[in-house]
Amino acid sequence: MSGDFVPAPDSLRWRKYAGRDVIPLWVADMDFPAPPAVVAALQSRVASGLFGYGEPWPSLIEAVIEHCQREYGWRIEAEWLVWLPGLVPGLHLACRAVGAAGDGVFTATPVYPPFLSAPDAEQRRLLTLPLVRHEGGWGWDFAAADAILRAARLLLLCHPHNPVGRAWREDELWQLAALAQKHDLVVCSDEIHCDLTLNGRHTPFAMLSPEIAARTITLMAPSKTFNLAGLGCAYAIIPDAGLRRAFRAAGHGIVPHPNVLGLTACEAALREGGAWRLQLLDTLRAHAARVEQVVNALPGLSMERVEATFLAWIDCRELGLAQPAAFFEQAGVGLSDGAAFGSGSAYAQYVRLNFGTTRPLLDAALERIREACARL
Ligand SMILES: Cc1ncc(COP(=O)(O)O)c(C=O)c1O
Repeated sequence: MSGDFVPAPDSLRWRKYAGRDVIPLWVADMDFPAPPAVVAALQSRVASGLFGYGEPWPSLIEAVIEHCQREYGWRIEAEWLVWLPGLVPGLHLACRAVGAAGDGVFTATPVYPPFLSAPDAEQRRLLTLPLVRHEGGWGWDFAAADAILRAARLLLLCHPHNPVGRAWREDELWQLAALAQKHDLVVCSDEIHCDLTLNGRHTPFAMLSPEIAARTITLMAPSKTFNLAGLGCAYAIIPDAGLRRAFRAAGHGIVPHPNVLGLTACEAALREGGAWRLQLLDTLRAHAARVEQVVNALPGLSMERVEATFLAWIDCRELGLAQPAAFFEQAGVGLSDGAAFGSGSAYAQYVRLNFGTTRPLLDAALERIREACARL
């Protein structure tokens, strides 16, 4: 997970700064080549030369079922699966499938930007509540959530949470579950980062109870964990037949057939990527610790511990800059601008740093950040 690195020529993240001396640590993919077993499976699929319409096949479906059982102790049924070309389409379909135009969709900020744009794009009304930074990390104001959720039909949950890096504990999930039951909500739980929980085991929201499962759309994908985002492959797990029907219907004519290369990569990753993932987690734990150490030692910057993901949410408010992302870009580090993770300018003085890169690049970026802060 280190050494010399040459980005793909089409890399969105790297192309943004082509020809400039800016280390790109923004969009959330990693600088690590996919597991060798995935590459081998793709090579053999490509060698067939046959790329007609595909359909998820039994051993692929079995791989997902086994993965859920092995990694989370979650027993799912084959018919609960709905295949998707990505998680973001799943967020949109959830908005379309639940309620009607003008109905409330709730999410907590800061959050991955499509959580904020999907409701509006699907004629729903976005309701937000800021997460709170407590002594020991980011958390929920459940009383405030209770008040807002009265007006909601759908709760978009990011679990683990991008960008704050929390892997929600079971007691926190239970509080959300109680609110979902009280206000009769559907919950769409985006669990794309769940296999990047740095310590401990992930609990899918839907696993809490059969009643909760019946109101939950879980979105998962191999793309973040195994660095396969460009292959467009994800799946929804929807135990309730009516909700599943509505979700499928919402995508009719819009959501394409699954990409056969994405499906091929998915099976290989879930079946044979285990050892690679453990090595990745070691690397990410070390990178997270390094980022935390450097950031929290710099006057004006601070962050909480990253429990999951390869993303660090950095509070730059004490630097007193209007646009810290632009400031660090000038200094040669391309970070995600916090402003995109909330409405208005609420998070304009935060940045998100992607540490899914090689150690030399990460260290160089951190050094540039340190020097830039020292010059202020
Ligand atoms: C929470 C979350 N959901 C969804 C996505 C994107 O999913 P996809 O590329 O499958 O649409 C990301 C990408 O960073 C993410 O962080």
